[in-house]
Amino acid sequence: MKRVGIIGTGSYLPEKVLSNFDLEKILDTSDEWITTRTGIRERRLARADEAASDLAKVAGERALMDAGIAPEEVELIVMATITPDTHCPAGANWLEAKLGAVNAVSFDVTAACTGFIFALSVAEQYIKTGIYRNALIVASEIMTRTLDWTDRETCILWGDGAGAAVITEVEDGRGILSTHIHSDGAGGDTLLMPGGGSKTTPISYESVDKKLHTLNMIGANQSFKVAVKRFAEACEEALYHNDLTLDDIKVIIPHQANLRILQGVAKRLNVSMDKVYVNIDRYGNISSATVPIALDEAARDGTIQPGDLVLLAAFGGGLTWGSALIRW
Ligand code: UT7
Repeated sequence: MKRVGIIGTGSYLPEKVLSNFDLEKILDTSDEWITTRTGIRERRLARADEAASDLAKVAGERALMDAGIAPEEVELIVMATITPDTHCPAGANWLEAKLGAVNAVSFDVTAACTGFIFALSVAEQYIKTGIYRNALIVASEIMTRTLDWTDRETCILWGDGAGAAVITEVEDGRGILSTHIHSDGAGGDTLLMPGGGSKTTPISYESVDKKLHTLNMIGANQSFKVAVKRFAEACEEALYHNDLTLDDIKVIIPHQANLRILQGVAKRLNVSMDKVYVNIDRYGNISSATVPIALDEAARDGTIQPGDLVLLAAFGGGLTWGSALIRW
């Protein structure tokens, strides 16, 4: 089996900032409530003419430039998203065309907030087994298009953005040490976007009136507790599999759902928050894109240095959860 590693990262956040103070003007909420309960201060909002593949294109181009790979050299594109431009074709197909990745095959992976780790795990298998020489993995979400802006418990959490990574064969001593992915379909109702699929099409006045086409987080409080448990389990599984402890890890890069979830995980793992990468204050929850955006930031701001051990972990709708342990 070949050893596979990340050789380039990139991200893109839309320019428009929506602060908690902006939300105070349209909702019965306060900056104080949102900051204390979630850690979020502001989030980004995509332009009306931007779709998920547009955000993905910029993040993907930046990752390819970082890796020194031209679009036409890309062999595989895996896009993680729950907000594709269209259900058919896949978001990754639009991205392939926009990038000019004329020699790549592309497809989407749907695993909500764990999407990037699922996509990384899938793409890794193709490189490991020598079927493709490289892959571009992009997570891109326009979560703000899925929201009911009168539902104050849900709409304050989410934002838009994209993150990307390029993987290829690397020399021994670095690269992806493990990926572990899990799902529990029985928990599917907890974080749900009921409409838009075969269950509710054709879209009707009734389905719109019932708000079936917006993100439904009826189980948010319950999923908070499950998230802490699953996050911690995902980290422990990666460490156990590689015979390592948290002392060996330079930084944990988790999905950014709620600062209090991350604090709960840190407490459960008995690790300082200094070891947990946090940027939720600036971007909110961007579903699958939070992990690669944070990874790109950590790689660029010097948090991660060559040789460091980096632990990615996520939890999300599905339910899904997982980890990736990487020697940078
Ligand atoms: O990425 C996938 C994983 N994501 C998740 O699993 C989400 C996890 N869940 C959460 O992050 C939190 O449960 C929320 C942020 C969604 C809610 O926080 P909470 O601390 O669980 O608050 P709560 O739902 O228990 O609500 C407390 C109070 C309620 O008022 P009463 O009933 O106590 O009078 C809510 O009506 O806060 C009220 N409230 C708000 N007040 C001001 C709810 N949303 C707001 C708001 N502004 N935006």
